[in-house]
Amino acid sequence: MVPTAVSEEGPTRVGFVGAGFIARNHAAWLAQVAEAEIGPVTDLDPSRAESFVRDHGGTVVDSLEAVVEGSDAVYVCAWTAEHPAVVERVAAAGLPVFCEKPLATDLAAAEAMVATVEEAGVVNQCGLVLRRSPAFRWVHHLLAQPEAGSVQNLVFRDDQYLPVQGQYASTWRSDVAKAGAGVLLEHSVHDLDLIDWLVGPLERISAEVASHHGIDGIDDAASCLAVGSNGAQAVLATTWHDMLHRPSQRRVEVICRNRVVVLEGDWLGPVRWEDGDGVGGALEGDELLAALRAVSPMRTNPARAFVHAVRSGAPAYPDFRVALRAQRLVTAAYESAADGGRPRSLVGDDRR
Ligand SMILES: NC(=O)c1ccc[n+]([C@@H]2O[C@H](COP(=O)([O-])OP(=O)(O)OC[C@H]3O[C@@H](n4cnc5c(N)ncnc54)[C@H](O)[C@@H]3O)[C@@H](O)[C@H]2O)c1
Repeated sequence: MVPTAVSEEGPTRVGFVGAGFIARNHAAWLAQVAEAEIGPVTDLDPSRAESFVRDHGGTVVDSLEAVVEGSDAVYVCAWTAEHPAVVERVAAAGLPVFCEKPLATDLAAAEAMVATVEEAGVVNQCGLVLRRSPAFRWVHHLLAQPEAGSVQNLVFRDDQYLPVQGQYASTWRSDVAKAGAGVLLEHSVHDLDLIDWLVGPLERISAEVASHHGIDGIDDAASCLAVGSNGAQAVLATTWHDMLHRPSQRRVEVICRNRVVVLEGDWLGPVRWEDGDGVGGALEGDELLAALRAVSPMRTNPARAFVHAVRSGAPAYPDFRVALRAQRLVTAAYESAADGGRPRSLVGDDRR
């Protein structure tokens, strides 16, 4: 089914289910979108909805039904286990939906969610926001240039403190029934998605996972080796530690036949590169944004992109199919880890 457009008259009323950490990020992005206004907001913890509304606008309501009734589009920012049921209700009402990553705690539920939104014909976008990161898009641009030569290796390091503490303070992340798993699913679904997008399509993946904190079902360190159909080899090391002073950090190095690219900031850089003749460059911040604008019209603000898709009926990006592919990569990695690190094939899988 082709997604249907909602009325273009008046602002798009955006409702929220879940008013915690990531909902606030989306509200800040929405504040930059003139055609949008925050509508009804609900949270299992009413004090969170109240505080969200005080800071970002909207109206506190006490149910999912009230959000559906009062919205033109809905952000699903509840913890992961709640995503499928909420998305089902929003899609049944024919409303566009933005759902946070990972789509679900398991692959079967994620597959069903894609079927749900596609059968309902609603605009759907997922929370793999780093697909819009200026820094990662600049890396993508550098790797696609013929003079770089083929990608040989990629090293991706991601470290963050265990997010049940500090600014995240999300106890649900230590509950496997709510989170599904630990760092590899909850956090590094972003990273495997980016690796697949940058140097894939990935053909096979193997992994090891560990739980140093000893939380049941919650891995806090993982290493993956993934190989693309073009022979590119990528390694991911991701971890949840206890260094609260250290912000969430990604560092990526890509070695091509004739270019080395290093990313050290996952939104505004810096990104540095050097070619075989010793000539290269470095970009970050406004300079990076200006350079990107010259080569790509894609919006960096995920909320602006979503609202544009909602108002025009055009497909959103990244959509639930992108999120499903990412969930497949993560699932294959966990299967490999449970099987002593034996590689899992990804051939024949969907990719966007
Ligand atoms: N895209 C990203 O970079 C990113 C970053 C952080 C979190 N996330 C994802 O966003 C989701 C939420 O994470 P968070 O960090 O904001 O967690 P959080 O704990 O800060 O907020 C989640 C909120 O959802 C509420 N909630 C849970 N079930 C609900 C329901 N059925 N109805 C109404 N409210 C409900 C909780 O009470 C809580 O206030 C998770 O799926 C997480 O993986 C994505």
